Amino acid sequence: DLIEWDAEAAEKGGFDTYMLKEIYEQPQALTNTLIGRLHDDTGEVNLDINLNPQSFKRISIIACGTAYYAGLVGEYLIEQLARVPVEVDVASEYRYRNPLVSENTLAIVVSQSGETIDTLEALREAKKGGAKTLGVINAKGSSMTRELDDTLYIHAGPEIGVASTKAYTSMVSAFVMLALWLGRARGTLSEMEAKDLLHAARELPRLVEEALAPERVEQIRRVAEKYAHARDYLFLGRGVNAPTAYEGALKLKEISYIHAEAYAAGEMKHGPIALIDAQLPVVVVATESRLLEKTISNVQEVRARSGKVILLLSDGDSENARHADDVLYVPRAHEMVSPVVNAVAMQLLAYFTATALGKDVDKPRNLAKSVTVE
Ligand code: G6P
Repeated sequence: DLIEWDAEAAEKGGFDTYMLKEIYEQPQALTNTLIGRLHDDTGEVNLDINLNPQSFKRISIIACGTAYYAGLVGEYLIEQLARVPVEVDVASEYRYRNPLVSENTLAIVVSQSGETIDTLEALREAKKGGAKTLGVINAKGSSMTRELDDTLYIHAGPEIGVASTKAYTSMVSAFVMLALWLGRARGTLSEMEAKDLLHAARELPRLVEEALAPERVEQIRRVAEKYAHARDYLFLGRGVNAPTAYEGALKLKEISYIHAEAYAAGEMKHGPIALIDAQLPVVVVATESRLLEKTISNVQEVRARSGKVILLLSDGDSENARHADDVLYVPRAHEMVSPVVNAVAMQLLAYFTATALGKDVDKPRNLAKSVTVE
């Protein structure tokens, strides 16, 4: 027993939990996702994918849980940068809805474990319809990889904590590369634009390292503790960071058991606004973007109803800080890669909320790391 405990402590490498260790492993995980795949001089990416990027007319992204949210970021990136129509489905819906698939479809399945039964069955469904298939996968040699036409490994390394962290940011980074690859091959991205994005992607490990600086982590811990006894939480974001809000709410409910909802900020007025009162913390992703002004007007609507505003702002944005009860600053990043940096703050907010409440973050109740039964 004692030996087992020692072995586990050693595996956690000095961290209290696997989840925290994996949060801090993100700069390395991202380096491993990106390494050898980006070519600065030409703006090209080399993903070792045999599929012909011009051979399909639409893309279906299929996944569960956190991987599904990575897929939503992927949809935004691919449509923006490569101008291919993309739809994203949760695998349990896709597999039973008799989806429209043809030889012109590229089905992309996203999975940390490569074993999730719904995703595996959805992959089989897509293949049956004639789709070409590509996986964004972490686990080497997993069941899905044996059935896919091509696999883009994210190389995030083993993830033990039930709540996914480094796999998410690596998946999103993989989608940045995929969108670049598609955009270049399909002629929707100029060499200049591609180089700009490629440079932004290359910065990610450093930016995430910066997002994990002790003073930032401390600030997140303070905010988490301040609101740890809230009954509910609302998360808002727009555009490429709408999924950041969804993922933030998912992380919080998974490990702290606080009820959390997430919406695209512009949708707030169509219902969730009714929930806002002085007891409700509202986390708003308001980092630099084309839509920042719109987001800030949503924030004012929350304030006008006495909601407690926790703003995620880009470094240096003191202008918008006045709209917040609490501010979490994150390093400035190119909008298209910002979901990776912003996710780190979401993970830490959930983490410190759960630990303040004394929850076992590595083994949250009722959840499994990998769901291999229906
Ligand atoms: C479970 C895990 C989640 C994960 C989901 C999909 O629900 O608790 O963290 O996002 O499965 O897992 P996958 O291995 O397919 O990414």
